[in-house]
Amino acid sequence: MKRLTVPKIRARKDDGSTEEPLVMLTAYTARQAQLLDRHCDMLLVGDSLGQVIYGLPSTVPVTLEMMANHAAAVVRGSYHAVVIVDMPFGSYESSKEQAFESAARLLKESGAAAVKLEGGAQMAETVRFLIERGIPVMGHVGLTPQAVNVLGGYGARGRSDAEADKIVSDAQALDEAGAFAIVVEGVVEPIAIAVTKAVSAPTIGIGASAKCDGQVLVTDDMLGMFERVPRFVKKYADVAELIDRTVSTYAEEVRSRSFPGSDQTYQPKS
Ligand code: KIV
Ligand code: NA
Repeated sequence: MKRLTVPKIRARKDDGSTEEPLVMLTAYTARQAQLLDRHCDMLLVGDSLGQVIYGLPSTVPVTLEMMANHAAAVVRGSYHAVVIVDMPFGSYESSKEQAFESAARLLKESGAAAVKLEGGAQMAETVRFLIERGIPVMGHVGLTPQAVNVLGGYGARGRSDAEADKIVSDAQALDEAGAFAIVVEGVVEPIAIAVTKAVSAPTIGIGASAKCDGQVLVTDDMLGMFERVPRFVKKYADVAELIDRTVSTYAEEVRSRSFPGSDQTYQPKS
């Protein structure tokens, strides 16, 4: 299987084949990427790794180095899906030149195909600057977790008319700037519909109804690694419970000297 490309993802909406939605999940490690790769069109090395991998309180402290290292692992573990890496907070907002330097470093150090950054119209010029210089960009509108300190939380966006209009015009600005896809996070269904109609790039929803051109979830959330997850997450498994049971058995066997048994023990040749 040859690796998918950014233009192929972008073209899915034009040729009408987003009738079958695009599939994206987050990945942070090589082994996780290996397991997800053949099921997904895109793997996102999300800055959600701040909370998921590093136990940080938000994505705000995540660094370029963290993103580059995890993206490199995900590229090494995959051969089919397009790998997209999040630009961390503080690495792209101050100027388009800063954004290019950060994005180029991420792609050079990891081998990922594209970057994602948060923000709407205010980032459009940067998005165009990066694309003209060889870096494909995925947009991210609606709930933008890097702005948690301004927003004051992670509640759904677009509940007022003004907020709704702004989300649509933000997505349009990114679309016109050339973003190849746009994540739409935490918005009420009518906004997801309006954005998806308003842009030529595929929309990838998270907490944004079934009306987007694709879906994404944080893998560890959908696997049931965490007790508490946002309402829009469906837990497809209870991996935390499986690990708890498994490790409890191991601990019991070590303490009772039933592990290691003879199958796991080397003996001298007789
Ligand atoms: O960081 C992340 O995981 C994301 C997705 C959930 C869209 O940005
Ligand atoms: Na993110």
